[in-house]
Amino acid sequence: MTITIAMAGKGGTGKTSLASLIIRYLLRHNAVPILAVDADANANLAWSLGLTVKQTIGSVLADFNDVKMGIPPGMTKEAYLNLKLNGAVVESKNVDLLTMGRGEGAGCYCFPNNVLKEFIDKLAVNYRFLVMDNEAGLEHLSRRTTENVDELIIVSNHSVKGVRTIGNILDLIKELKLNVKRQSIVINQAPGPLDPMIVAGLEELGVGADAVIPMDSLIADYDLQQKPLTDLPDTSPAVRAVDGLMEKLLATRRADRERG
Ligand SMILES: Nc1ncnc2c1ncn2[C@@H]1O[C@H](COP(=O)(O)OP(=O)(O)O)[C@@H](O)[C@H]1O
Ligand SMILES: [Mg+2]
Repeated sequence: MTITIAMAGKGGTGKTSLASLIIRYLLRHNAVPILAVDADANANLAWSLGLTVKQTIGSVLADFNDVKMGIPPGMTKEAYLNLKLNGAVVESKNVDLLTMGRGEGAGCYCFPNNVLKEFIDKLAVNYRFLVMDNEAGLEHLSRRTTENVDELIIVSNHSVKGVRTIGNILDLIKELKLNVKRQSIVINQAPGPLDPMIVAGLEELGVGADAVIPMDSLIADYDLQQKPLTDLPDTSPAVRAVDGLMEKLLATRRADRERG
C-alpha cells in the first residue's frame, strides 16, 4: 500500500522546502520508490529536487484539447491521453515527479478529469511513498478518487496569524470531507523555541506542534545557489528537525501496525 504524505499551509510557509526534506529523508532511508507530485499551479518542487520538467499535466491536457492533435488510428482517445500523461512523469533514481501545472480556465481539467484521476491512482500504486506538495487551498485533493491522505503535514510560520490559518485548514479538511488519517502541525522558520503566544494559539485550536523547524540559513543559501535541498548536509538544523518528525511519524505507523 502506498503511503500518501501531503503538505498543506499558506503560501510561503515552507511546504515545498519541507516536502523536499521529507523526500530527502525517505531517499536516505531507502524508503523508495517515491512519487513526488507537485500540485501547486505555481510549480517549483522540481527545482528543490534538482529535476527538470518538460511537460506538466496542464500542458498535456491543453495540447490534447487542441483540435490539431491527431489521435493515431486504432487508438482510443483515453489510451492516447494516458500515453501522453505518461510523458509528464519525470523519472530519476528512486524518485519520480509528476507536475500538475496550470489547468485551463479556472483551474478546471474538465473532460479528462476522470482519466486524470485514474491515471494518478494507477501510477501511485507503483510507489512506496507518494509525497504531494499542494497549494494553499486543498480543493484539488477532493477531486482525486482516493482522497486518501495518510499523513497531512500542516505547515505554518511562527506567527499568530499563521496559527489562525491552521484553524482554517482544519475547518477546510472537515468541509471537503477529506479522508485524512493523521495530521501533524509543523511550525517552520522558528526563530527559537515556540513563543507562549503560539503555544496558546495552538491550544485554542485543540492541537499542539508536532515539530518545530528552525530558521535555517542553509535553505536560503541553497536556493540562491540553485542547489537541490535533497543535497543539504545532515548537520543542517532544518534537516535534523524534519528527520525527527519523520522518525516519529514512521515509528507511530509501525506501532499502529503492530497493534493491528
Ligand atoms: N526553515 C527554513 N529556514 C529558512 N528559510 C526557509 C525555511 N523554510 C522555507 N524557507 C524559505 O522560505 C521561502 C518559502 O518557502 P517554500 O518552501 O517555497 O514555501 P511554500 O511552498 O509554502 O510557498 C523560500 O524562500 C524558502 O527558501
Ligand atoms: Mg510551494
